[in-house]
Order: sequence, then structure tokens, then C-alpha cells
Amino acid sequence: MRVTLRIMRFDPEKDSKPHFEEYQAEVEPTDRVLDALNYVKWHIDGTLTYRRSCAHGVCGSDAMLINGRNRLACRELIKNLSQPITIEPIRGLPVIKDLVVDMEPFFAGYRAVKPYLINDEPVPDGRERLQSPEERERFDDTTRCILCACCTTSCPIFWGDEGYIGPAAFVNAHRFIFDSRDRGAAERLEILGGHEGVYRCRTVFNCTDACPRDIKVTRAIQEIKRAIALGGP
Ligand code: SF4
Ligand code: F3S
Ligand code: FES
Repeated sequence: MRVTLRIMRFDPEKDSKPHFEEYQAEVEPTDRVLDALNYVKWHIDGTLTYRRSCAHGVCGSDAMLINGRNRLACRELIKNLSQPITIEPIRGLPVIKDLVVDMEPFFAGYRAVKPYLINDEPVPDGRERLQSPEERERFDDTTRCILCACCTTSCPIFWGDEGYIGPAAFVNAHRFIFDSRDRGAAERLEILGGHEGVYRCRTVFNCTDACPRDIKVTRAIQEIKRAIALGGP
């Protein structure tokens, strides 16, 4: 079938501002938006620029605004979308070229929450830190994040303030705060309770709606707020 794509283009060497261009792509209804973008790049205009790697919803590199919603291009079926299919870069981050944005402000929020296991205590028997299935279940949902930025770049608080730590970083903080093996909760909760932290969240829920992994992002944020109020997880 033939589909019409309306793609936002911006070349910093030629354009003073972004503009839309239309393309016709030959695809199957069961193809994904990424296949249509590849068609345009490989058959019509090789200068079209976007990120992608795995093409299977795992690497998180092809988040974009598709018909007004943050989605992974490699997961959106053509047959489920109305035409023309409008494709824009995710919002709230500087556009480098076409659909490629500068992810640095997003990763700054991620780094701020210390997204790694903190525990200086000796490992019992020098072997492993044991955990029960119930303790593992406590943070299972938030282990599934692929750092695609769909959540953070759909949040109006982030659009207005690049310094907002943001829902993706909250999810990754949650993953360690509620891990029984971790000892870094206090230092993370102090950062998360600060002026760019969870109390700026207005429970808009865009983040939860946008997550391609169906992570309960807003619930994770509420659990962090409760942990701050109670003085620990
Ligand atoms: Fe992407 Fe979901 Fe992780 Fe946010 S929480 S970065 S939307 S996978
Ligand atoms: Fe933003 Fe999600 Fe909170 S969209 S305001 S982080 S619930
Ligand atoms: Fe890897 Fe889409 S290309 S998630």
C-alpha cells in the first residue's frame, strides 16, 4: 500500500527553522513506521536523519512524535495509523537534525539519580547478595525501562524546564531505591526531594500513557514521594 508521511525536517546548515515535507512510501499494512522512514531514506531522500538500531523495541533509540503521540517508530504498525502519518522529533530537547535530538539534558537527569547499585558492605560469604522473589517483585516493573525518553519528553513540566529530573530518571531511581540489596536510597531520596525532583510532578499521566513498555511511571513517582515522606523505602 502507499502511505503519505508528513515529516518535520530541519537541516541546521540550510534552514532557519523546521518545516514539514511530504513523502509517499510503498509499505505493507503490517510494516512499522520505521519501515516507512527507511523507504523514504533508501529510495527518495538519503539525507533524512533519524536514530534507530534494534528495530524491535529494545534499544529505545527511535522515539518520535507520531500523529501527535510519543511512540517508538519500530513498534507502530502502519495499519493502525490515520494518514497522512505526521512524524516530528520528541519535544523539549534541542533538535540537531530532522528527527534527531540532543539527548544530553535527558541523560543529565538520569545520571543525577545515581542509577547503579550502591552498597559498600562486604558481599556475604564473598559470593552473592541474596534476595527473595517478593523483594525482587518490589521493583520488577521499573527494571524494564529502555531509556527511550518517550515519558520525559511527553511531560509538560519537562517542556518548560530542561532541568526537571523527569519521569524516566524517576523510574530508574525507583529501580534501585526499592532494591533490597541497595544502600543508596537516602542519598537518592534527598536529590529526588529537591527543587527539580518528584514534587514538581503534577500527576499529568502523559508519561504513563507514552511508555512503550507499559511501565506504571506515575505509580513509581507516587511511591518515591511516599518513601521521601516516610524517610525511606
Ligand atoms: Fe521509555 Fe518507559 Fe523508560 Fe520512560 S519509563 S524511558 S517511556 S521505557
Ligand atoms: Fe509529568 Fe508524568 Fe508527572 S507527565 S507531571 S511526570 S505524571
Ligand atoms: Fe530500537 Fe526502536 S529501533 S527500540
